[in-house]
Amino acid sequence: MEKTKTTGQADMKKIVSGMRPTGKLHLGHLSVLENWTKLQQEYQCFYFVADWHALTTAFDDTSKIRDNTPEMVMDWLAAGLDPNKCTIFRQSDVKEHAELHLLLSMITPNSWLERVPTYKDQVQQFKDQGKDITTYGFLGYPVLMSSDILIYRADAVPVGEDQLPHLELTRELARRFNYIYNADIMTEPQALLAKVKLLPGTDNRKMSKSYNNSISISASPEEVKEKVSQMVTDPVRIRKDDPGHPDVCTVYTYHTFYNSAEQEEIACDCRGGKIGCVACKKRLAEKMSNFIDPIREKRLQLEKNPSFIDEVLQDGANKARIEVCKTMDMVREAMHI
Ligand code: TRP
Ligand code: SF4
Repeated sequence: MEKTKTTGQADMKKIVSGMRPTGKLHLGHLSVLENWTKLQQEYQCFYFVADWHALTTAFDDTSKIRDNTPEMVMDWLAAGLDPNKCTIFRQSDVKEHAELHLLLSMITPNSWLERVPTYKDQVQQFKDQGKDITTYGFLGYPVLMSSDILIYRADAVPVGEDQLPHLELTRELARRFNYIYNADIMTEPQALLAKVKLLPGTDNRKMSKSYNNSISISASPEEVKEKVSQMVTDPVRIRKDDPGHPDVCTVYTYHTFYNSAEQEEIACDCRGGKIGCVACKKRLAEKMSNFIDPIREKRLQLEKNPSFIDEVLQDGANKARIEVCKTMDMVREAMHI
């Protein structure tokens, strides 16, 4: 607390992170946003909407990318990001990201990209859905991500485990750049792995809009009730007084997130056949709504004033540009361009 008062933003360590514009966010995203919100107190944070990244897989249907951006930024602010404390912008508003991507692509060996483990996995995943994403852009996507990070000379990057190979590539590219151009421009960023528990979807699979098992972070109490009522419970429990198994029940998992004060009691009553699933779900829905209500209220405020989000994005891009211009001046100088 004291520190933020006496330390100017410029003295703080820098953090960069991005999210693809998928539109309205769901509760699974909330742990990431809580982490981002915490970090904005201690670091100079650059959080951006990765709209160019969205193109790497959605190049054939770009119709929603632009509109999804303010939708997602409203969720960011509703969840706690403060545009006075962090820099929020749209990747495609800061063209220097693309310039650095091009320059770094010149020094990136193909073999480095081909061996990124997520590359083949993702290509296969999309192939199973009948889509070919083996483009130049998709192969080079980790170079774009590296540019996003290195252009701020970021000290750290909060990422999920799935992004670690990309961060490793970023670090290798930083070293290679400094070595080839005999420079000391690029900083090797550290990974900030937040150890967050993953909230499952209502069917206990990974939460995802495409599985239709997600709950929006601004869901109304009615929507929450509806979603909770659809949740899968202990499948062998038929009557209310049958002993239940909370450890296999999605409702129980949700209690551990949104009603931790009562989780022991509920587990005990469930095992002892003292609480029915309907009552258990009702209690969960109430707790979840208490939690979500302030987020929805905040979002409703933001929706009333769309020009505010435009301003946030414009201000953010201006602040980001100050930082990227410093790096790009040095980069062009080092490369004699
Ligand atoms: N690749 C990340 C994702 O798909 C998003 C992203 C793009 C990112 N650039 C980044 C994350 C830079 C952290 C830092 O989720
Ligand atoms: Fe799940 Fe609650 Fe039913 Fe137990 S009582 S099976 S925890 S919904």
